[in-house]
Amino acid sequence: MIRKAVLPVAGLGTRFLPASKAIPKEMLTLVDKPVIQQVVEEAIAAGITEIILVTHGAKKAIEDHFDVHYELENELEQRGKTKLLKELRSILPPGIRVVSVRQGRALGLGHAILCAREVVGDEPFAVLLPDVLVDNFNQLKTDLAYMNQRFTETGLAQILVDAVPQERVDQYGIVALKEGAALAAGESKPMQAMIEKPAVDKAPSNLAIVGRYVLPPRIFELLAATQPGAGNEIQLTDALDALLQESGAEAYRMQGETYDCGSKLGYLHAILVHALRHPEVSGDFRKLINQLPEA
Ligand code: G1P
Repeated sequence: MIRKAVLPVAGLGTRFLPASKAIPKEMLTLVDKPVIQQVVEEAIAAGITEIILVTHGAKKAIEDHFDVHYELENELEQRGKTKLLKELRSILPPGIRVVSVRQGRALGLGHAILCAREVVGDEPFAVLLPDVLVDNFNQLKTDLAYMNQRFTETGLAQILVDAVPQERVDQYGIVALKEGAALAAGESKPMQAMIEKPAVDKAPSNLAIVGRYVLPPRIFELLAATQPGAGNEIQLTDALDALLQESGAEAYRMQGETYDCGSKLGYLHAILVHALRHPEVSGDFRKLINQLPEA
């Protein structure tokens, strides 16, 4: 059973400036819900009960979002706004805990995960990169839930991957499967190597790491020994490659859809999809889109 999830949110979000100057990029909204809330819901749906935010002093709004806002709740109660009140209280369902640790210096994703070492302790855990939304709408179980289940059965780290266009492999961690292996959606298979942001002509495949991981605690020791790699940052992918050489690790191929909310177009795509599903606005929003003049 995987109980804990680490969400690195300390990044300054330069790709979203000026919007992310005073508001964390993770607090940008999909209609009326911040992106980070969507990611926390994904973790909870996979059975996670402790969310560990690796954060930065400039991003307190994220911690506030998951805290109780007593005055606001009181006000809504007095005004009889029970539906809103219920919604506000359901941001963090009973039994779910949010803990935060600080990442003082931006030394890379691997370093961010290492900052959570004491809070995670000696147990397996999930990592969710909140820039990426994994959408398992209308599916029986989420991809993260399948990864947790597979880890519990095998003890092998599970890395969520999906195919990306060959010309974009240099923007991701890329995995190599064992010789000749193919990976169908929903399947896990052993990997041979992982490499962070390879040159387009050096990538061993076009299977990219999507931003969901289920890892054993051994990764912390490997991270502590990892030297700066791509972009002169301590890379999680490099520590994972060491783990894989030591005891094996599996790539799990995604069944759902992803939206890269770290990019403007990916974020717009996510808004479109969520607005078209939103119970309050979906119908009118579709009409609005249909009425748009051709560009
Ligand atoms: C990080 C990881 C990379 C992964 C990507 C997914 O990179 O280091 O392996 O493919 O997230 O979004 P970043 O996008 O933070 O540079």
